[in-house]
Amino acid sequence: MEEGVRRYWPLVEWIEVMDLLEGRDILPTIRWDGGKVRIIDQLLLPHDFRIVECEEYRDLIEAIKDMRIRGAPAIGIAGAFALALGARSIKEKDMGSFLMRLKGIASEISSARPTAVNLEWAVNRLMEKARRAEDVDSIPDILLSEAEEILREDIETSISIGILGSELINDGDLVLTHCNTGGLATGGWGTALAIIYEAKRQGKRVKVFVDETRPLLQGARLTAWELKRAGIDVSIVCDSSAPYLMRKGMVSVVLVGADRIARNGDFANKIGTYGLALAANANGVPFYVAAPTSTIDPNLTDGEGIRVEVRDESEVLSLCGRRIGPEGVGAYNPAFDITPGELVDALITEKMVVRRPVGEGIGILTRGSDLM
Ligand code: MRU
Repeated sequence: MEEGVRRYWPLVEWIEVMDLLEGRDILPTIRWDGGKVRIIDQLLLPHDFRIVECEEYRDLIEAIKDMRIRGAPAIGIAGAFALALGARSIKEKDMGSFLMRLKGIASEISSARPTAVNLEWAVNRLMEKARRAEDVDSIPDILLSEAEEILREDIETSISIGILGSELINDGDLVLTHCNTGGLATGGWGTALAIIYEAKRQGKRVKVFVDETRPLLQGARLTAWELKRAGIDVSIVCDSSAPYLMRKGMVSVVLVGADRIARNGDFANKIGTYGLALAANANGVPFYVAAPTSTIDPNLTDGEGIRVEVRDESEVLSLCGRRIGPEGVGAYNPAFDITPGELVDALITEKMVVRRPVGEGIGILTRGSDLM
């Protein structure tokens, strides 16, 4: 971790999109502001940059479900702020009843989206703080400062992932990425995209191909928007073109994020990731995953136990608000897939870079740490 990151944090004005933190462009993806939570509405990007205010915990749950805020670390932070908001709404004054009500809100928040472990991780972290509180009146403030701490840590974590991961990027690399793993998916800088931002800071020339990422087009809408404003050469490609590009030698590195990682390295990420891993392995292209250690689920031995969110068929059946399939035909819409850990060449976390076989490295990373 570079010195001074924490020192500069209070200078970040959340409203300023182009704000710099140690020379880095931190997006105000989600911020607490005087009793409200303000988020960038990711459904409107790239054409409209708008901030929405969430005054009640249920507003934030809806925003997570609708994917106005999305990306594993960002929904973890949103879950933490939602519980902080929820605590403020509880009227009970006796500790037992207060905690029971808070637990109910916590489970509503955790079930908003099931795949990314960060959501339940953050909510559990706040619940633990609440249980240790000495009196009921102090709990709302305790939870708010813990949510702020999770946000601060996430930005620091992103910077650390960027710095560690940038060592795997060479000048002239042709990077293929999927979905959105940038500032919008985190507290403001990113995981896989933080590595690209950091490589650029170091003067490396990088060309990025981003899969459009059907059905919700996080790649075409969000990643392309982020990379363009960062001055990085980016082209959008159809999801189905990635193996062809690899075969043609047009991709030197595949770099993706993760939503939940099992102890053997199997991981869930946006639907389409498994196919990228297979194509990368078949074509000798390094396949890297970037994620904070909070995305590792220490309770899972392998990917079998990961619950994959299946979203509404309307997301597949329509495009930009217009139906594309014939009436009467349905759709199946799993939002994530599971990639076997044996296909991963390196897992980049904020603590260390774990090389193939990543299952062994994850064991070292989690043993004796606060994860287990
Ligand atoms: O459904 P989404 O948009 O929340 O899915 C996001 C992803 O799959 C990202 O790759 C993952 O959360 C990593 S974000 C740093």
